[in-house]
Amino acid sequence: AKQIRLEEDLADKKILVTAGGTQEPLDPVRYIGNYSTGKMGYKIASEAAKRGAEVTLVTAPTSLDAPQNVEIIKVQTAQEMYQAVMKEEDSQDVIIKAAAVADYRPEVRESNKIKKSDSNLTLKLERNPDILAELGKVKGDKVLVGFAAESEKLKANAKEKLIKKNIDLIVANDITAKDAGFASDTNQVIIISEDEEVELPNLSKREVATRLLDKVNQYLKGE
Ligand code: CTP
Ligand code: CA
Repeated sequence: AKQIRLEEDLADKKILVTAGGTQEPLDPVRYIGNYSTGKMGYKIASEAAKRGAEVTLVTAPTSLDAPQNVEIIKVQTAQEMYQAVMKEEDSQDVIIKAAAVADYRPEVRESNKIKKSDSNLTLKLERNPDILAELGKVKGDKVLVGFAAESEKLKANAKEKLIKKNIDLIVANDITAKDAGFASDTNQVIIISEDEEVELPNLSKREVATRLLDKVNQYLKGE
């Protein structure tokens, strides 16, 4: 039998989602980026809005259309994402960090285009804030969800992040798996909490979003 969801089961909930890959400028024409396309985060924002939540999407640059009924805050760098998220965090019931945030940024952002010379060029990078870890420090009653894209020791690495960052759920995905991860329309993930590991089959990113929001809703209800 087809499962019918109670409509608007996330009504009255405020959910903030981050998505996309941050861009860290080097000069007026170049940046350091990553392969994130934003698809997973946009699907989560879109599904949450359909289920009645008041959704804020803090997004790094992507080529995706804005989901309907979602407030969009556009950012470029990790620092801008940090500022935007911290400004909104206090009023949220749930924060889902699907964005691929650059761990490092160029120490200097040149105001003029870097010219090539005959010698090699060495870039100096400095650390960006860990947004999710900062959220974990001011967690309160919020449900915090992280993502972990790993190329090895998937479960162990993801579980370590869950505990270290003081979050409730982490969505672990093996970036070496077929038809999963960056740019794919499908994803294969394990949803890990302190006492449970739910391994999902390869699903559309929309379906992954649905399953994740079901899990989040259980937390909101205190189940
Ligand atoms: N994250 C974040 N701020 C950062 C880096 C990561 O909020 N500066 C969040 C991501 O949005 C994701 C989670 O932390 O939800 C895990 O990101 P990941 O890159 O897998 O973990 P890191 O803690 O950065 O560890 P590492 O890259 O060394 O594996
Ligand atoms: Ca990282």
